[in-house]
Parts: sequence; C-alpha cells; structure tokens
Amino acid sequence: MSWRRTTRRCWTPSTLDHVNHIESGPTDTSRPAFGVYVHVPFCSVRCGYCDFNTYTADELGEGATRASYADTAIREVVRAGESVGRRPVETVFFGGGTPTQLPAADLVRLLRAVDDQLGLAPGVEVTTEANPDSVTPDSLATLREGGFTRISFGVQSAVPHVLRTLERTHDPANVERAVRWAREAGFDQISVDLIYGTPGESMADWRTSVDHALSLEPNHISAYALIVEQGTAFARKVSRGEVVMPDDDETADKYLLADEMFTAAGLGWYELSNWAIDEDAHCRHNELYWSGGEWWGVGPGAHSYVGRRRWWNVKHPAAYAQRLSAEESPEADGESIDNSTAHIERVMLQTRMRSGLDLAGIDPKMAQSVVDRGLATISATHLILTLQGRLLADAVIRDLLD
Ligand SMILES: C[S@@+](CC[C@H](N)C(=O)[O-])C[C@H]1O[C@@H](n2cnc3c(N)ncnc32)[C@H](O)[C@@H]1O
Ligand code: SF4
Repeated sequence: MSWRRTTRRCWTPSTLDHVNHIESGPTDTSRPAFGVYVHVPFCSVRCGYCDFNTYTADELGEGATRASYADTAIREVVRAGESVGRRPVETVFFGGGTPTQLPAADLVRLLRAVDDQLGLAPGVEVTTEANPDSVTPDSLATLREGGFTRISFGVQSAVPHVLRTLERTHDPANVERAVRWAREAGFDQISVDLIYGTPGESMADWRTSVDHALSLEPNHISAYALIVEQGTAFARKVSRGEVVMPDDDETADKYLLADEMFTAAGLGWYELSNWAIDEDAHCRHNELYWSGGEWWGVGPGAHSYVGRRRWWNVKHPAAYAQRLSAEESPEADGESIDNSTAHIERVMLQTRMRSGLDLAGIDPKMAQSVVDRGLATISATHLILTLQGRLLADAVIRDLLD
C-alpha cells in the first residue's frame, strides 16, 4: 500500500461585500470554473521534512526580498489580466511557504490586484495558509476585513516529541490562541493541517493530536501521511537510519483512527485527506483543481492551467523578480495536455473524491472488478471508494488506468 497525497493545499466560502465583484450577467457555462493561486515563498525556519519552494531569510540571497514581494507578484497579476481578460475568479488561495510571513496589508493588496485585474466572483472563497506563530489579532483582522474568508493553520501534531522530530518550531499552546484570534477576527471557515506517521509517533500520540485538533472545533481538517521527500534533511536522517519510518499497516491504522474520530465529531470525508463539517466547509479551491477547473498560479514555481495548457514559473524568487522587473514572462516551461493525459489526471483526482469517478470512458469490467473486491460501490454514474478502497486508492487507480 502506498500513502501519497496529491495536494497539500486547501480551504472555503463566505461573502465579500466590499470588493468590486464582476456584475452578475448570464453565466458562461462553456468555461470551467476559474481560480487564482498565489504562492508566497517564505518561511521563518525550514521544517526538515518539507520540500516546498520556500526560503528562509538566510537562504534567500540577493535580488528578492519580502518587502518587495507583493509588488513583484502584482506585476504577474497584471500580466494574468492582460492574458485572460476579465474572468470571474471563484476561489483565491494563498499558499506557501507561509503567506502570513508577509504583512497582512501586502496579502490584501495582492487580493485587491486580483479583483482589479480579473474580477472576484460573488461569494468568492479566499483562503490563506498560516503558521500558528505568524498571526496576531491585528493581522487576522486586516485579512478578514480585506476579504479573506478562510484560514488554514499548519498544526501537524499536538505532541512535543513529534513536533521536535518534524522540526516544527511552534509552541502547541499557540495553536488554540491563534484559532481563537481567527474566530474573534470573524473567520468562521477555519481548517487545520495534521501529519501522521512521524517516526516515534505512537497510536496514543496520534489520538492526542486528533483530539486536540477536534477540540479547536475547526470546520475542516486535512490529515496527511508524512512523505519522505528526497533531498530534505529529514530524508537524510531516514537514510542514515537516525529515524525509522513506520510500516504501512501502522500508517493505515492511523488513517482509520482519524477517519473514525473525525466522523464521530461530525466531519465527513470528501477527499482522501480532507474532512469537513458540511459541503459549505469544503475547500472549493482544491475542488476546482480536482474537478477540471482552470487556474492562474502567481509566484515563483507556481503552476497554471488554462485552455488545456499547463505552465510553471521559474523557481527562485530572485529569478522570478528579475523576469518581472524586465517586463518578461516568469514562465519557465509548459506543456499541452492531450486527451490521454487529461483522462489519466481525471481518474487520479476524481477517484480520491467522495463524489466519485464519473464512469464515462472507464472499462466497465475493471470498474466491476474493483466493486467485487469490496473497494468501491457504483451509483448510476459514478464509482465511489469504500473505506477499504480508500486505504488502497493508489492500487485502485492503477487498475482503473490499466
Ligand atoms: C505550506 S504548508 C502550510 C502552512 C505553513 N507553512 C505551515 O507549515 O504551517 C502546507 C502543509 O503541507 C503539509 N506537508 C508539507 N510537507 C509534507 C510532507 N513531507 N509530508 C506530509 N505533509 C507535508 C503540512 O501539513 C503543511 O501544513
Ligand atoms: S511545512 Fe510550512 S513552515 Fe515548514 S518549511 Fe514547509 S512551508 Fe515552511
């Protein structure tokens, strides 16, 4: 069994009544939903397990600063507007890195630029990821007043020795405070990220983390199995034998425990690694990725997908800033998505969702064999994984693509 996440990013809706919404006219149903991802490539410290495109102040070097980042990224938003034109943005997601390493006013300025250049749709969902240590009551109030509707805190664990192994620097006690401040600032869409399967984490430790996450009463939780990313400090520790990864059965047991506890607390799964209190609490931005939507990714290393074309930006913040200040595109490379690739991606993403895989174009014998093995059920049009199927999702996807 293989434990993989296809995305680690997410979050939910509410209203934005003080931004310039595109006037509602006849809806253009011929075009997929459209979103914007803004990558913020800064962290105060690098966690040993993480291979995201993010930099500490020491790693950043010449040519890119946090102070100039919002202006640089706004240049790309302007280019997006020139390329795409006015197009209602249904979701905006600020991910990282740690977006809340930037002043809240800069994040709000970026959101305004998206509205000015592309146009926010009525009821737009605007999420930011946050580290519990990098928010204050004031910064949260600025974000909420500036149009952010959703916040996702990287909690990972509530157990000090697990956090130490992950090299997380936040004090677990700060999490409760950060969530309370977010509520006081008016955020009712609050999510937390957890990681399970850290070396040395017992089942009791994991139960403590899940209990703690639930005690925060978030309306959304993401729980990811720890991935050993090649090239990270953590991967080197694993290869030197300094830490030992748990076996797949133990990791599967932790998934089952989490699912049982989340479900008992009223949070239902809607994607393999994501649980929410109801449909309004789903991360619409991630749902857009998973269901064939289009998006523009702003920032170094960000990926975009528009008109069956995928492209990605230069990775380093200095190279990114240099391109934009020379009025050049930050694109590093791209590819067209042909029908066969689109089919593979659809099967990989839809199968992970509770709404299920649309059976059009799927070999009925293969779908039936998955059902016969107890790994899925079939509704009129969709194949939906059972709990056992969720544990073996990668194998099911391989079979369906055979
Ligand atoms: C960009 S971070 C979230 C915001 C902030 N930087 C933080 O860590 O608190 C996104 C999430 O990815 C997950 N993540 C990162 N590296 C991972 C790995 N190697 N295995 C599993 N999850 C990982 C963590 O749960 C993290 O919260
Ligand atoms: S997990 Fe979050 S805080 Fe840690 S290095 Fe990655 S992006 Fe930064």
